[in-house]
Amino acid sequence: MKGIILAGGSGTRLYPSTLALCKQLLPVYDKPMIYYPLSVLMLAKIREVLIISTPKDISKFETLFANGKWLGMEIDYCVQDKPEGLAQGLILAESFIDSDTICLILGDNIFYGQGLSPMLESAKQNTTEGFATIFSYHVKNPKAFGVVEMDSKGNVLSIEEKPNEPKSNYAATGLYFYDNSAIHIAKDISPSARGELEITDVNLAYLKQNRLKAQNLGRGFTWLDTGTHDSLIEAGSFVQTIELRQGYKIACLEEIALNNGWISEDIVAQRATLLSKNSYGEYLTQLLQK
Ligand code: DAU
Repeated sequence: MKGIILAGGSGTRLYPSTLALCKQLLPVYDKPMIYYPLSVLMLAKIREVLIISTPKDISKFETLFANGKWLGMEIDYCVQDKPEGLAQGLILAESFIDSDTICLILGDNIFYGQGLSPMLESAKQNTTEGFATIFSYHVKNPKAFGVVEMDSKGNVLSIEEKPNEPKSNYAATGLYFYDNSAIHIAKDISPSARGELEITDVNLAYLKQNRLKAQNLGRGFTWLDTGTHDSLIEAGSFVQTIELRQGYKIACLEEIALNNGWISEDIVAQRATLLSKNSYGEYLTQLLQK
C-alpha cells in the first residue's frame, strides 16, 4: 500500500500566517502539522509516501523529510500547480501508486485515540477485497465537512459535501483507503460547482458500486482539523494537555519508526542530539534509556 499526504491548498483561511509558510508546516504545539498525518500512515505500516504540495512549498517539505531514510521510509514529492481538489491528488499520484492500493490523508487532519492501529489494519485489508473505507466522526457543525448518513448497522446511505441541510452529524474525516480503481474513478469525475475534483464524488462512486465501508471513530476518539486560527490553537492546546499529562508524545515519528523496526537506536540517538535543546529531543533520549 502507498500513502499520499495532501499538503497543498491555498491556506487563505489562515492568512497572514500562511502568506510565507504553508499551513501544514505551521506548528501544532511541538512539531509541524504534517507530522500528525504522517504518523497515521506510519501506524498503518505504510513505508512509501508521496507528499503533494504547491510549487512554492514543496521544497520546504523536502528540507524537512529529505528522502525519508532517517525514518526507514521512502518519501517522494509531487507538485500540484493549483488547488483543484483532493481527488486530483489521486491522479497526480498515478505513477507513484502504480498497481498498488492507496491510503490518502489530508495534511491538516489530526487523529488521536486508542484502537487506531487495528482500524487502519482492517481498512487496509478491505482494499485488498476492492472496498474503500472512510472514517466518520460525530461533530457539532457538520455543514463544514463531507457528511455521511448511515443506517443503524453503519452502512453508508449517502455522502454530501458541505450540505446546507446535513442528513446527520457525522463528518467524513480526511482519511481514505482505496483499492487501485480510485485513480480511474478520480479521472472520471467532473469538477464541482466550486471548481474542484471532490473526494466526496470518488466516495460516492464507490458507494454506487456497493464498495464503500464507513468506520466510525467513537466519542472516545479525537479528530481535529486545523484550518482556522481557532482550530489551530485548540489542536495545539489539546496536544500540549495530553503530552504534559501522560509523558507520551503524539506523532513522534522517530518513536513509531523505532517501534515498527524501521530504524535503529543509533538513528534515534542522532536525532536526539540534533533536537537536544527541547522536550522533543529529551523524549527521544528517554526512549533510548527505556
Ligand atoms: O477535513 C475533512 C474534510 O476535508 C472532509 O470532511 C471534506 O469532505 C473534504 O472535502 C475536505 O474538506 P475541506 O474543505 O476541509 O478541504 P480543504 O480545501 O481545506 O483541503 C483539505 C486539505 O487538503 C488541506 O490541507 C489543503 C489540502 N489541499 C486541498 C485542495 C483543495 C490540497 O493539497 N490540494 C487541493 O487541491
